[in-house]
Amino acid sequence: MKVVFLAPAYPPEMQQYTRGLAEVGASVYGVGDAPVASLPRSLKQHLTDYLQVPRLLDEADVTERVYQWVRGRGVDRVLANWEVMVLTAARLRERLGVPGMSYDAVRGFRDKQLMKERVAAAGLRVPRAIRVRSAAEARAGAAQLGYPLVLKPIAGAGSADTFQVDSDADLERALAATQHVPECSLEEFIDGDEFTFDTVCIDGKPAFMNVAQYLPKPLIARTNEWISPVIVTVRNLDQPALAGGVALGKRVLTALGMGDGFTHMEWFSKPSGEVVFGEIGCRPGGAHLVDQMNYTCDIDLFREWARVACWGTFEAPTTRKYNVAIIFKRAIGQGRISKITGLREFLRAHGEHVVESKLLPVGAQRRNWKHTLVSDGYILLRHPDWRTAVTLANMVATDVTMYAE
Ligand SMILES: Nc1ncnc2c1ncn2[C@@H]1O[C@H](COP(=O)(O)OP(=O)(O)O)[C@@H](O)[C@H]1O
Ligand SMILES: [Mg+2]
Repeated sequence: MKVVFLAPAYPPEMQQYTRGLAEVGASVYGVGDAPVASLPRSLKQHLTDYLQVPRLLDEADVTERVYQWVRGRGVDRVLANWEVMVLTAARLRERLGVPGMSYDAVRGFRDKQLMKERVAAAGLRVPRAIRVRSAAEARAGAAQLGYPLVLKPIAGAGSADTFQVDSDADLERALAATQHVPECSLEEFIDGDEFTFDTVCIDGKPAFMNVAQYLPKPLIARTNEWISPVIVTVRNLDQPALAGGVALGKRVLTALGMGDGFTHMEWFSKPSGEVVFGEIGCRPGGAHLVDQMNYTCDIDLFREWARVACWGTFEAPTTRKYNVAIIFKRAIGQGRISKITGLREFLRAHGEHVVESKLLPVGAQRRNWKHTLVSDGYILLRHPDWRTAVTLANMVATDVTMYAE
């Protein structure tokens, strides 16, 4: 089993997928922009070979270079788990005649307008939306759709350049702030709770499923620095409150022609009970969501994904044992972390439920909270009871404080 895996080193969790591929018996041919000498030994031991390319995001260039590199070597799979590489992987599969999702199918997971059109065509509820390429189109679109609206990049990530737009004045501000974005989606603002629907699929059918709740919604968390964003995986997927979202999610996978691998979808539950599609990618969620899912079931999805991708089987147990919460912290002040309060007390009282504590240490430079969801670090905790898990997460959010100066 020869696997070309794009971007095996970055983002860091890609090294875990590389490990997973090697563990299920694949020979991994990595492609990245980092020099081979700079790769950590823990990664290199799982790579059969590695190609350094000058511009990883240049789809045509990477396709040509990899094609020349592996042609005639009998490659069985071309895979990518990083959002910006999934189309390049599809292009290469088509060029090499390797099985897997087509370029057109993957486009349905990358282009937010196309995905909504395809999902809507299957009779599913999506926000009403218009693709806009200029301020004039946006103004006309706003007149047609009516406020409140959301303006966001057609191929965005991490809520970057995403704005709630409630008025003409908001629209002008949002347009000014998104001038560098070539194409946007202007869409109906959906009020309600926001959840994920995550899977590892075999031929579009979930072998593994997960739902997590955002507390608060990512757009709010990304707009207010004082918030400690919390995401909690839900242990009990069989509850009535989630049934609509899970059913929607499964039908979206069919509508978009999902094949093998990870998906990460977001959906809204309106106060009326109506569920609305948000967006979907054919790759895992970021910001440690895979770690959260692993802690939910005590399994290793890095390896199980690899098993699915290579051999079409999923062997881990899917019994859900815990609600797993991640709490991202943002320090007060700028510069270096100067002190952390409340952590020792929290760990003394509730440390048995904490599975990872990765706050930046005193002395470390603060991260840019707009650029990384992980912010100044995180705490992962878990509990079998939903209310207890959320209560503990809220305690970390409010009682643990990081300072910088
Ligand atoms: N139509 C919408 N209605 C309400 N909120 C939205 C809408 N679209 C996006 N958002 C908010 O903005 C966030 C980012 O948008 P999303 O489409 O998920 O892009 P990204 O790829 O950046 O995650 C969402 O998680 C949600 O909180
Ligand atoms: Mg999103």
